[in-house]
Amino acid sequence: MNTYQTLTTEIKGDVLILTLNRPDALNALNTMMFDEIDAFFSKDHQSFSGRCIIITGSGSKAFAAGADIKELHGLNSAQAETLSAKGQRIFALIENFHLPVIAAVNGFALGGGCELAMACHIRVASQQARFGQPEVNLGIIPGYGGTQRLVQLIGKGKAYELLLTGEMIGAEAAHELGLVNMVTAPDDLIVTALRLADQIAAKGPLALKGVIRCVNGYFTPGVEGYGLEAKTFGEIADSKDFVEGTSAFIEKRKAVFTGR
Ligand code: COA
Repeated sequence: MNTYQTLTTEIKGDVLILTLNRPDALNALNTMMFDEIDAFFSKDHQSFSGRCIIITGSGSKAFAAGADIKELHGLNSAQAETLSAKGQRIFALIENFHLPVIAAVNGFALGGGCELAMACHIRVASQQARFGQPEVNLGIIPGYGGTQRLVQLIGKGKAYELLLTGEMIGAEAAHELGLVNMVTAPDDLIVTALRLADQIAAKGPLALKGVIRCVNGYFTPGVEGYGLEAKTFGEIADSKDFVEGTSAFIEKRKAVFTGR
């Protein structure tokens, strides 16, 4: 098991819960946390055999209150551009991870915290969660994909409203906008995320990976989405899981998928 200083991990059956763990700084994303998230998705769990990841924040107050403002302060132009590109690369690792990643948003998801939640495939929010891209209050803009993914998730008009006002919204408003998939009582957040993860974990792993690949293809310049879908569909038809899934249906039994 890997040890991290700003993250904790817990295995629950087929699901791994990854907790952002800087509660005294409202889980703000500092360099070490970024590097550890990078290591988690790019190396340490690249061949993780579980079926789903849940990301949440430690403490009752925050998922992540953004990039660490104390680190941002004093960056020059080149350093800021480098940091933005690094954040974008790391969040793309999550978006393109081979397993579904669910954000269980327990409190403030602001700036980079909202961007991290948006890089996940599904978002479950506690009623106490608050979302926003308040960067304009600091005289900057979102740098970890927020101007792109917010538009993708809630549309241009509402995205402009949040990005230009920097205003925070509650979980119910975020749900109405389509920014989050479901809202739960605070005490039910992890149970609800785990239930969703278990539901997903029972499906064919190659199919889940294929869905993620094709949906991301829709948003990737130069990728012809329908072509990618047909190619992926064909590749998966060559798997044991395809035979197992269709056989199980015909034989009226539950499929047991192996990811092969
Ligand atoms: N970066 C660094 N530290 C942060 C932080 C951030 N993004 N957000 C909160 N913290 C720290 C605070 O500095 C404080 O630390 P301290 O006790 O050493 O002073 C601690 O977390 C608690 O935050 P505090 O502001 O006292 O809590 P609050 O309940 O009064 O307010 C927020 C909560 C989220 C409204 C407020 O912390 C905030 O606005 N944070 C910045 C959000 C933001 O602009 N994010 C985008 C960054 S690009």
